[in-house]
Amino acid sequence: MAEYDYDVLVIGAGPGGYVAAIRAAQLGLKTACAEGRETLGGTCLNVGCIPSKALLHGSEKFDEARNGTFANYGIKTGTVELDLDAMQGQKLDSVKQLTGGIEFLFKKNKVTWLKGYAAFEDAHSVTVAGQKVTAKNIVIATGSSVTPLPGVTVDNDAGVIVDSTGALALNRVPEHMVVIGGGVIGLELGSVWRRLGAKVTVVEFLDQLLPGMDGDVRKEAAKIFKKQGMDIKLGTKVTGVAVDGGKATLTVEPAKGGEASTIEADCVLVAIGRRPNVDGLGLDKIGLELNARGQIETDHDFATKVDGVWAIGDVIPGPMLAHKAEDEGIAVAENIAGLTGIVNHDVIPGVVYTMPEFAGVGLTEEAAKEKGEIKVGKFPMLANSRAKTNHEPDGFVKVISDAKTDRVLGVWCIASVAGTMIAQAAQAMEFGATSEDIAYTCHAHPTHSEALKEAAMAVTGKPIHM
Ligand code: FAD
Ligand code: NAI
Repeated sequence: MAEYDYDVLVIGAGPGGYVAAIRAAQLGLKTACAEGRETLGGTCLNVGCIPSKALLHGSEKFDEARNGTFANYGIKTGTVELDLDAMQGQKLDSVKQLTGGIEFLFKKNKVTWLKGYAAFEDAHSVTVAGQKVTAKNIVIATGSSVTPLPGVTVDNDAGVIVDSTGALALNRVPEHMVVIGGGVIGLELGSVWRRLGAKVTVVEFLDQLLPGMDGDVRKEAAKIFKKQGMDIKLGTKVTGVAVDGGKATLTVEPAKGGEASTIEADCVLVAIGRRPNVDGLGLDKIGLELNARGQIETDHDFATKVDGVWAIGDVIPGPMLAHKAEDEGIAVAENIAGLTGIVNHDVIPGVVYTMPEFAGVGLTEEAAKEKGEIKVGKFPMLANSRAKTNHEPDGFVKVISDAKTDRVLGVWCIASVAGTMIAQAAQAMEFGATSEDIAYTCHAHPTHSEALKEAAMAVTGKPIHM
């Protein structure tokens, strides 16, 4: 009889966990994945990336039809109405199809789904739904949950104070939505409800939106969202929220101190970050300690300090992004199988899927300057023929390279398709490209991507179209 029930047991079936499980099974390892949610796919497929993109896409179409963008192309529309139930319905369809798709892939690859929440008994065994299961290797991929704001109680069912899960499922368009936190979730979901007709106010503690992005991008973001009609209150903190029936009264004051004031809203979205899921896992039973941010630390191979226990995704340090979790899932499975699984954490793209999109990979200009001498090339989307033809004037591409070697250190981009454009920048950086390499690569015309080529030309010389 085998010493363990499984070679690999993955805890959590989000993009990190389900990918790790599938790759482990593909590599011939007997694999199970414990997931307590009713469907596979984790935060991303159930209440994150996928439903948010379904609503972003639908609301963008509605906004274009209703707010006159179609007139730019000579398209006249009659009265444009919103059927919110149908829009929510198409979102649920996407989620159902994609989560069902993971279930199909589990069956196809012979990954056993253990239904229930797992808790460690020791480094090689867990309890799931009352059953003890043993494995030679256990991968923690439990993801993250919303960070609560002290003193503010989220009630997604009531729909007045909501988190991202509640904001994805509203059955009415709020009159006034106040978003606490001007990060990725606040701007994406704030954009959805603004496009569908809500007045949206974003209250951000810091002096700029989108922490972690390049300084120029952050400044431009505030301008663009203000132009779109959002009320952006930077350097402002929420000190309390009182709810009376369907109304909320927020008390806010300058982050640096000063006079308090109030804002009335019928919906408040709390979006101040996410924190790792470790409660109830029984980490004390295996002697695994957390770092100061509540994360599980691993080495380069995603091994924790406890032999046979590995960790990936949102529960470990690094950006909380689905593609980072997925790549770590592949790498950890390969390392368990004795291969060499590597993730280059210096080249992980990030994208905010608003209109325009905000995307970046590598170092910000500020961080690059701290490391040494740099050169920067910038090109505005206004001068890009395709963006101009598509009536998409906002944005720019910025390429940052090492002053001596010209090696590309970072690329930042605001454009309608920035999320797609950033892939070639990530690939170039992965291959160790210089700005000259990008500048001398033939780009199809007319495409938004030509703006990246011209920004690269601007690093060492001059772009043609500016
Ligand atoms: P998760 O996806 O959180 O999955 C962890 C799973 O583990 C969960 O299903 C949970 O039920 C399960 N679990 C937890 N504890 C246990 C246990 N003890 N036993 C069994 N199961 C357990 N990222 C992007 O890259 N692009 C986007 O567009 C994007 N949009 C987002 C939009 C929103 C609104 C949110 C909230 C997040 C978004 N993200 C996006 C972030 C992305 O969802 C996460 O980075 C990603 O899901 C992390 O993957 P993971 O596998 O580490 O964890
Ligand atoms: P975030 O970290 O992006 O933004 C939170 C914002 O809230 C920050 O700007 C912070 O300064 C601000 N804040 C914190 N406390 C505050 C307070 N008391 N008052 C006012 N502002 C306050 O976190 P967010 O938006 O909740 O997203 C969580 C994670 O989910 C992110 O790490 C992101 O990577 C991931 N995500 C990714 C998406 C994507 O890739 N497109 C989409 C949505 C989420």
